[in-house]
Amino acid sequence: MINQKLHIAILASPGLGHLIPVLILGNRLATDHGAKVTVLVNKTSSSVESQVLNNLASGPNMDILEIPPVNISHLIDADTKAVAKICIMVREALPFIRSAIAGMKDGHRPDILISDLFCTEAFSIATEFNMPKYVYVPTSAWHVALKMYSPVLDKQIEGQYVDQTEPLKIPGCKSIRPEDVVEPMVDRNDQQYRELVRMGREFSTGDGILINTWEDLEQVTLEAFRENESLREVIMSTVYPIGPLTRPGEPKGPNRENHELMEWLDMQPCESVLYVSFGSGGTLSAEQLIELAWGLEISQQRFIWVVRPPARIADGSFFTSGSGSSDGTPDYLPEGFLGRTKNLGLIVSQWAPQVEILSHPSVGGFLTHCGWSSTLESLKNGVPMIVWPLYAEQRLNATMLAEELGVAVRPKVLPTKKVVDRKEIEEMVRTIMASEKGKLIRERVKQVKISALDAIQEGGSSVNAMRDFLKDVTVRLNMRS
Ligand SMILES: *[C@@H]1O[C@H](CO)[C@@H](O)[C@H](O)[C@H]1NC(C)=O
Ligand SMILES: *[C@@H]1O[C@H](CO)[C@@H](O)[C@H](O)[C@H]1NC(C)=O
Repeated sequence: MINQKLHIAILASPGLGHLIPVLILGNRLATDHGAKVTVLVNKTSSSVESQVLNNLASGPNMDILEIPPVNISHLIDADTKAVAKICIMVREALPFIRSAIAGMKDGHRPDILISDLFCTEAFSIATEFNMPKYVYVPTSAWHVALKMYSPVLDKQIEGQYVDQTEPLKIPGCKSIRPEDVVEPMVDRNDQQYRELVRMGREFSTGDGILINTWEDLEQVTLEAFRENESLREVIMSTVYPIGPLTRPGEPKGPNRENHELMEWLDMQPCESVLYVSFGSGGTLSAEQLIELAWGLEISQQRFIWVVRPPARIADGSFFTSGSGSSDGTPDYLPEGFLGRTKNLGLIVSQWAPQVEILSHPSVGGFLTHCGWSSTLESLKNGVPMIVWPLYAEQRLNATMLAEELGVAVRPKVLPTKKVVDRKEIEEMVRTIMASEKGKLIRERVKQVKISALDAIQEGGSSVNAMRDFLKDVTVRLNMRS
């Protein structure tokens, strides 16, 4: 059977944010490595999801298998947190996942299982069917280290992590500031904390861990995984840094809005535009939105701003500044904002083609909520950042980008704790777009870009890591037969 195409099943947990990275990985394995890929999707029945599936899941070697949606309403209440919900959904879906795999008869059954970071409970199914099993984590190695070390921290540390006065130590890795712990670690009495510790343990029980990072970006952490004896007492797994895996550009269509936007970008000077976006789920408070608008305006730098109304006043329209006499500024922005900034910037409502924007030569900065996929897209294009974490999940990213890699600036106080005022915003924007310090940051991020592109080229570290992974798979499959 080894002569045949390697057949890989990848299991995605519910939610678009989890589905996209899995599809990107699947595409890579199918296109560049000639594998047959079946993606098992826990559908949550959103129309956006179907669209993404259509866009990213095409190709002769990719199959999608939908796991029927599960009803978990009797298992949760108003206090059940996001991560706990995902874990419960996955748990309830296990019988369906099992029968999906059991239903694929000999010769059609996948050879191995790759689970995304929330689905490792399905490892038992892989074991039952004698399939090697791996976990794919689409975030950083540092995040993986924290998660996998959490069972130890759980024993070592008393009280809430966020109340600790000393940073949390992970052997060989950079320590973690108590205020930077990921969301499920914020409250140790919550179910989602217990789920996190369980998952941390389960990661170690697989045959390896694929991570969406690369050797140069997180050398210290990756080396600790391989060489630090104290860490290896806890985490024996092999890690494969295979990133950056990022989204392909949006399919080009006759979309008038994008067309206008890209034409506007074409006319701007090189590296002069700040792109501002808080991701698909991110909204700011009404007060913060006003401060941000003023901050952008007084900085006098060019911008494209994906604005989401603070409440539900979205009408889905797109407006270019200065497109009328009464300037059309929506009422949640400072009065006359569009008129005053008409030569500086564009406002986009709801959605913008981020991949195209970040790779455009006129773009010179990115104000971001620092989700990992946005972060990688920015690094890959050599665009320096202003990092603005909205959720606990993103703080570690922000710290890594600003303090460790030196490719970003950040507000002095976490934006979740205090409104960032216009003066500070102006300063950050000017720092990134028009200062000596900004030049250094830009040089640094361009080095990171080069190292990212090197990693994913033939002979690069991530391509080699992917090959090592596939070799490991072959060895395990040979042992099995
Ligand atoms: C492993 O980590 C510990 C704690 O951070 C450190 O003291 C030790 O030197 C490291 N060992 C190696 C081999 O790097
Ligand atoms: C980065 O942000 C993502 C959310 O987009 C989160 O899932 C991940 O845990 C964060 N990574 C780190 C290293 O904090």
